Amino acid sequence: MAACPTIELPSGYAMPLVGLGTFDNLKDDMICEAVKAALDSGYRMVDCAWIYRSESAVGAALADRIKAGAVTRNELFISTKLWNTFHEPDRVEAGLRDSLNDLGLDYVDLLLMHWPMAFKEQTVERKAWILNTQTEPADVDFLDTWRAMEELVNKGLARSIGISNFNIQQLTRLLDAPGLRYKPANIQVESHPFFLNKELIDFCQGRGITVTAYSPLGKGGSTYAGKPTENILEHPTITSIAKAQAHSPAQVVLRWALQRGLSIVPKSCTPVRIRENIQLFDFSLTEDEMAAISLLDKHKRLVTLENCLFTTTVLGCRCPPILWESRDGRGRLYRLLPAAAPCVAPATTTTTSSSSTTTAAAAQTLPEVGVEQTVQDGVDEDRDKREQQAQGVDEAKLLGRPEDGVVEVGEDIDDGDGQPLQGEGEER
Ligand SMILES: NC(=O)c1ccc[n+]([C@@H]2O[C@H](COP(=O)([O-])OP(=O)(O)OC[C@H]3O[C@@H](n4cnc5c(N)ncnc54)[C@H](OP(=O)(O)O)[C@@H]3O)[C@@H](O)[C@H]2O)c1
Repeated sequence: MAACPTIELPSGYAMPLVGLGTFDNLKDDMICEAVKAALDSGYRMVDCAWIYRSESAVGAALADRIKAGAVTRNELFISTKLWNTFHEPDRVEAGLRDSLNDLGLDYVDLLLMHWPMAFKEQTVERKAWILNTQTEPADVDFLDTWRAMEELVNKGLARSIGISNFNIQQLTRLLDAPGLRYKPANIQVESHPFFLNKELIDFCQGRGITVTAYSPLGKGGSTYAGKPTENILEHPTITSIAKAQAHSPAQVVLRWALQRGLSIVPKSCTPVRIRENIQLFDFSLTEDEMAAISLLDKHKRLVTLENCLFTTTVLGCRCPPILWESRDGRGRLYRLLPAAAPCVAPATTTTTSSSSTTTAAAAQTLPEVGVEQTVQDGVDEDRDKREQQAQGVDEAKLLGRPEDGVVEVGEDIDDGDGQPLQGEGEER
């Protein structure tokens, strides 16, 4: 079995171009079997996160295959992500150690800051730490979190460090921060044919930061936020290229990502698909095929933490999702709406959280800073204006203090279909 090609990280370590994604609220035995199948199919990278709650199952699979002599720790590349409740500098190491403990490892190959924004520490039992009644923004600057992550490299607990879900503004602030010892080795962001994320990816590649595409299959038509995603793999452009190339639609989509210079972490629990998703190095797409796939861009992401957090019946109305651009440069969330512009329940309340065309009625009830727009990770023309507006919001109106008229979350967050949200705040 040929080894999966690698990309060199700015830290000097080599990262496989294909890794197995491990998030989907799966049962432990499914994750464990999927990781074993992946290792047997030639995968050496597994993409984990504290919040996926699957690290002990991943760890069991790694231990099994190491014990069997199928792989060595040295051959593996294990990434994990620091959850938002561990951003306070004195909690960063505890967050990673929790993951290491579950994974049964002494170090991870890559530690990513999962999101730029922080949540307050929670006291609920770990398995319930999703987005729950205690989810509360915390005012921790991600630069301080990053400095604490740098210490973990110095201690040998993480070989490389990086980020996830940062936009260009936040990334620029990180890159330009004085006195940082390590540049981000990798950024993990959503990218697939329906959401190229081109500006951000061009920016990162131009600054020498490797980019990993998450949800590289656009979730493959699986259910997300309560409804099926549009299945990229059934799009006629993809199926006709797949036919011409004599490869599967998934292989075409993943190969397209690789030819954009990205690494990928497709998730599957189906052994035949797991194998298929790494058999990507025996064909290549033509320039025309690459261009045709890129034309499918809808400039609309699937994964927004804010969708899950804020578009909730718990808030008493369906607020338009407060999206990426409404974070300030420090990664803080504008959790609340200025008191002057209270969020009024719109007449229509049927839109689900994954929609980025959430009711116009709701949008009208919001101040500009929270108004939804088609958002990319990159720069957009109105950002400066919105940032200024955002900065103009009184500090007291940040971070969701009750006196600001924020609706307090008093029960399990639900996006309207009666199912509590699960997972990393983005998926179910
Ligand atoms: N950093 C972040 O914030 C973040 C956010 C989201 C995801 N991620 C990472 O990225 C990983 C992948 O993203 P994702 O899980 O959202 O979605 P994805 O990998 O784009 O799609 C997964 C879906 O596609 C199906 N699938 C996989 N291979 C297939 C194939 N060859 N043919 C047809 N269908 C196929 C899977 O079904 P089966 O499993 O049934 O085969 C599953 O339903 C996650 O697991 C996680 O590790 C990170």
